[in-house]
Amino acid sequence: MILAPSILAADFLHLADACKIVNESEADWFHLDVMDGRFVPNISYGMNVIKQLKKVGTKFFDVHLMILEPEKYADEFKDAGADGLTVHLEACPNLHRNIQQIKSLGMKAGVAINPHSPIILLNDIIADIDLVNLMSVNPGFGAQSFIPYSIQKIKDLKKLITESGSSAKIEIDGGVSLQNAKEILNAGADVLVAGNAIFNSVDPKETIKKFKML
Ligand code: DX5
Ligand code: ZN
Repeated sequence: MILAPSILAADFLHLADACKIVNESEADWFHLDVMDGRFVPNISYGMNVIKQLKKVGTKFFDVHLMILEPEKYADEFKDAGADGLTVHLEACPNLHRNIQQIKSLGMKAGVAINPHSPIILLNDIIADIDLVNLMSVNPGFGAQSFIPYSIQKIKDLKKLITESGSSAKIEIDGGVSLQNAKEILNAGADVLVAGNAIFNSVDPKETIKKFKML
C-alpha cells in the first residue's frame, strides 16, 4: 500500500515540520492539493509553495490539481517539483491532450474523478494513465466524510484496469481513516490519501505507522 499524507491538513505556519514528519515516517508520497476557487469552492496553495516544500520533502510529490485549464500551468508544476500530476476529468474537455502533455514533461499522469462521475468515463483513457484518483468526497475541503458508494466504484475501476491491461494505480482521496482503510484496500485501492486522519491525530508519525501495518 502506498500512503500519501495530504499536506492540506498540516499546520500551514509550520509546513517544513510537516514535511519532516513525512520524510522520517513510513509514508510513501506527499499529496499536494491545488485549488483555484473556480473548479472547486476553495483556494489552497500553488506552485510557489510546492517549490519551497520540495526543498525539504524527500519523497514522491503527488500533485492533485483541482483547477480549470491545467494545461496552462503543467510546466510550472514540473519546475516546482511535481513527480506526478493529476488533472480532473471534469475540468478537461481535451483530457487526452492533457495526459500527453504531462507525460511529455516527464511526470506520471493521473486523472481524478468526482464522486458523481461514473467509472465508464475512464474506458478510453485508462490505458494511457499511471493513476486514477477516485474522489471519495466532493473535492475542495479536507476532513469530510467518506462517501460509502465509493467502495463499489473501486471494485468497478479495479475490474476495468484488470480487463484493459492498464497499469494505473487506484488512489482514494477523501475521508480515509484508520477505521475504513482496510475495507478500501480490500476493494482494490493501491494508494491511500489521508489528511485529517494523520495531521490532526495526536502523533502523526505513529498514525502513519498504524496505516502501514493494516
Ligand atoms: C480534497 C482533497 C483531499 C484532502 C483529503 O479536496 O483532494 O486530498 O486533502 O483530506 P482528508 O483526508 O482530510 O479527507
Ligand atoms: Zn487530493
